[in-house]
Amino acid sequence: MFSEEKLNKVKEIIARYPQGKQKSALLPVLHLAQEEFGGWLSAETMDYVASLLQITPIEVYEVATFYSMFNMKPVGKHVFEVCHTGPCMLRGSDNIIDYIKKKLNIGVGETTQDGLFTLKTVECLGACGYAPMMQLGKHFREHLTPEKVDEIINECRAKAN
Ligand code: FES
Repeated sequence: MFSEEKLNKVKEIIARYPQGKQKSALLPVLHLAQEEFGGWLSAETMDYVASLLQITPIEVYEVATFYSMFNMKPVGKHVFEVCHTGPCMLRGSDNIIDYIKKKLNIGVGETTQDGLFTLKTVECLGACGYAPMMQLGKHFREHLTPEKVDEIINECRAKAN
């Protein structure tokens, strides 16, 4: 269940849309749910969102599973979303992904044992001019090199201490 404060936020989001069109609030409510319930969307969470919006659970599942920004299983504290679409690939995203895999000893879609890092690959994030790049939380990290990846990992580890 959302906290009282978040529930009010949900109501405010729903009120932005005409009566009967509350499904339009689905994406922002899913973002809120992911933030509130540990960084991922369980079936229970999606069912809860469906009940809040008075739509069927399948309508929530089909949207949540389509977008890579929604996590369908628990993730680490820091999620590396590395773009692997054409322009980033041409600029070496495969090498960056391989480097992260070796460095963190995880595969794509996996989380480190300490729960700090998850590696995901995603499609074009619209920052092709800064390839290769990844999204980390609300920020883009651009022109990635193994050295930059090391810096980012160290930054994240420092925040955890
Ligand atoms: S291809 Fe990577 S940001 Fe566009």
